[in-house]
Amino acid sequence: MIRLTAICLAIGAALVPGFTQAAEGNPAAGKTKSAMCAGCHGIPGYKTAFPVTYSVPKLGGQHAAYIVKALQGYKNGDRTHPSMRAIAAGLTEQDMADVAAYYATTAVQSASK
Ligand code: HEC
Repeated sequence: MIRLTAICLAIGAALVPGFTQAAEGNPAAGKTKSAMCAGCHGIPGYKTAFPVTYSVPKLGGQHAAYIVKALQGYKNGDRTHPSMRAIAAGLTEQDMADVAAYYATTAVQSASK
């Protein structure tokens, strides 16, 4: 049992770069919470049609700290994109940390594939 725990910890640490830094975020919870983000952020090359045609940035592989900072920016008005402001307004600090932790663990999708 102890060995199994150690293996799980080792795998977890390997999957999450900067694990100690993003410790508050729970990638498993973030995966569930990211369902509402996938409609825009999960589609390679996707552009939103509202309010203007706009390329949606990729989140997979992005640093957790960057994602949290961006979401806080939308929530507090530092960033002004209307769709993201509406979304970030409904997120708690924990939601942001969880979603960021999840995206930080997902592989960067190559644009060339
Ligand atoms: C309606 C479509 C849409 C949905 C849903 C959406 N986003 Fe976004 N998101 C965008 C667009 C468009 C931008 C680019 C806005 C800008 O340039 O400020 C963006 C930007 C971002 C950025 C900044 C990325 C960067 O590189 O600066 C983050 C982080 C982000 N979104 C996270 C999320 C998360 C987390 C969710 C789910 C909780 C989510 N988004 C849901 C459309 C969406």
